[in-house]
Amino acid sequence: MKPRIGVLVSGRGSNLQAIIDATRTGALDATIAVVVSNRPGAAALERARAAGIDAVFVDPRGYADRDAFDLAIAAILRDRDVSLVCLAGYMRLVGAPLLEAFPARILNIHPSLLPAFRGLDAQKQALEHGVKVTGATVHVVDAALDAGPILMQAAVPVMPDDTVESLSARILVEEHRIYPLAIAHALGRPPARSIEPDAPGTARAADALVASVPFARDEAFRIVQLRAGDDELTARLRDAFPRAAVKTFGDPFDVGSLAWWDVMFGADLVVAPFVMAKLTDAKKQYLYKAAADRVSPRGGVLVVDRVDAGHSALLHQLVWLKHAGFGEVDCRWLVDGTAVFGGFSPRAAAASESPLRAGN
Ligand code: GRF
Repeated sequence: MKPRIGVLVSGRGSNLQAIIDATRTGALDATIAVVVSNRPGAAALERARAAGIDAVFVDPRGYADRDAFDLAIAAILRDRDVSLVCLAGYMRLVGAPLLEAFPARILNIHPSLLPAFRGLDAQKQALEHGVKVTGATVHVVDAALDAGPILMQAAVPVMPDDTVESLSARILVEEHRIYPLAIAHALGRPPARSIEPDAPGTARAADALVASVPFARDEAFRIVQLRAGDDELTARLRDAFPRAAVKTFGDPFDVGSLAWWDVMFGADLVVAPFVMAKLTDAKKQYLYKAAADRVSPRGGVLVVDRVDAGHSALLHQLVWLKHAGFGEVDCRWLVDGTAVFGGFSPRAAAASESPLRAGN
């Protein structure tokens, strides 16, 4: 039987959504048995219900004190055979009755690199302090605020023009990546690494991808393939473009991590074969933007991805590529829900409008 987890929420529920999504893709092999909120209007409750998950509001005003409220929460979780509790934007201190009911079995996600910036408004604290790097932390909850043992962290750069909103959004991308992962590890069920579908048509998709590369056979250009180590496709690209340099990554390769992004600087072609499915929609948009900011002036991205039910719709992805700044955006191939699509020439549009150009 899959382990059963309970999620405590108070608000928006984007981390809850990341956890729900991970249980659906199989990245997190667990059942969300119940979602409990201390606020009646929490959007997180709606997200849970939309996913068919038992969603309960418990009104703190109905209890004499904090301990009585925590006992009620513990009872709800125990009733549903929950073995791990995840706080996801839960805006209450967890008291002794709940900690004793689930000793070292309550996790929390916090938007800073703990032990820096505990408590509320961690992103604002980071900006005010002037740090250049902050991030997200998943930790075990104990009696002290944001201070229990750290399970997983991800670093996020602070940009010179960041606002609380822009920094929070960048941190959130990492929160959504590491929370399901940390939960899977806490349950002793780390996700399998490979998600490349063994679907019929995969080989044809590779053909279509190679045929879509808008460079000549004898051109020397730089390809970055988002994958750990070389594979069939790497060999096909080297074959088709003997003068091209194809870069792949070390093992394990995590497409959701920021660590490799700068490898895209100056690349002429970023190839993303069956990796986008590992990313939420927000992360895809963010990655497309990062690619557009880094590839060469004629460079671009070619994606091979499932675009049918349960995956990001093709149209959405094309719009995100366009918004990221790519000029020539289209789908080159679509068969049985697998598509080859992409965008090229990120700065072409901007350059042709440049006053410097016009004057010359
Ligand atoms: C997240 O930033 C989380 O780190 C913090 O509260 C926020 C919750 O956001 N503890 P959401 O409700 O998951 O969208």
